[in-house]
Amino acid sequence: DDFEGRGVWRYNAALPFEEGVSLPEGATPLHEVPRLEADVGVETLRVKHEGMNPTGSFKDRGMTVGVRVAKELGVGRLACASTGNTSAALAAYGARGGMETLVLLPAGKVAAGKIAQASLHDARILEVDGNFDSCLDIVQDLAARGEAYLLNSLNPFRLEGQKTIGLEILEEFHEDYGTYPDRIVLPVGNAGNTSALYKALRELVQSGALDADDVPKLTGVQAEGAAPMVEAVENGWDDTQRWEDVETRATAIRIGNPVNAPKALPGIRETDGTAVAVSDEEITEAQRDLAAEGVGVEPASAASVAGLRKLRAEGVVDADEQVVCLTTGHLLKDPDAAFEAGDDPEPVPNDTEAVLEHLAE
Ligand code: F0G
Repeated sequence: DDFEGRGVWRYNAALPFEEGVSLPEGATPLHEVPRLEADVGVETLRVKHEGMNPTGSFKDRGMTVGVRVAKELGVGRLACASTGNTSAALAAYGARGGMETLVLLPAGKVAAGKIAQASLHDARILEVDGNFDSCLDIVQDLAARGEAYLLNSLNPFRLEGQKTIGLEILEEFHEDYGTYPDRIVLPVGNAGNTSALYKALRELVQSGALDADDVPKLTGVQAEGAAPMVEAVENGWDDTQRWEDVETRATAIRIGNPVNAPKALPGIRETDGTAVAVSDEEITEAQRDLAAEGVGVEPASAASVAGLRKLRAEGVVDADEQVVCLTTGHLLKDPDAAFEAGDDPEPVPNDTEAVLEHLAE
């Protein structure tokens, strides 16, 4: 396989350019998780681990397209608001493209790995005394005043790149089973991915590549402390209400105003999907379940598995379903959360006998 031929740009027929500012990205694993599959109780469970992208999250798929567009336009400064991953991806792809980047982060609410990435890739980092939604308000103002080119998921070119998550899932799943998954379960923050997946599925159906009956049910999962999309799904299909106060250990999806809701809600409805909220405890448990299969993810990613477990227990998901859960970010993004969920190191003396004694305890 040649370099250009792999990952996101393999699907350039569905993208606005032949190639992008690339590291490269995409071609992530679709893990088998047999123990978890049996434990949750579905016919098939596969995990599409987007944490295996160059900067450790699915955001790279959008940035390879978005930063290419920005170069094409000749803009001076790239900017985003972020719960962390978008800022890490923008910083890396901006650096790759030789461009100046500015990121606005909610102070004290971004995981260590993500800030470290933005810092080393030389983004200018502003910590705002507010949550993600306030940061996005400010970046939108800056963009409107011509101070920066916005690379949040409001930028449609980002979502074009993220469509390839859906294309890869369908292609690989079909190779393995000769069918398409019944359901794709994903964590939801700003609902960009939900919108992007829905667009990919619609384009496949319109082009005749996918039968309308084979479209997987898009199923969104949010944290209980930040679940405006779940509320919107339950209370009808009007514009979602912005939650002013949000809190969850899954800081990546600590979002009260999902700006892509108008595009994502029809995706959930038209595919006969649903949305569900899970507790931080359920998220931690799912993070451990995935780790026990060798798949290391950050808390927001584990929300997909926690949501599937809950929907299966409630009978919303059937035992005979074939399901793909999306895990959006790598374990190392949030080392503090990993330490919280896992076991502590045990201090021992510098002596073999003492180590053996300790192990026997
Ligand atoms: N999972 C992770 C690990 C994320 O970083 C995000 C979003 C999501 C899920 C939600 O995806 O917005 O498409 O519904 N992170 C953004 C950021 C907000 O700034 O990194 P979505």
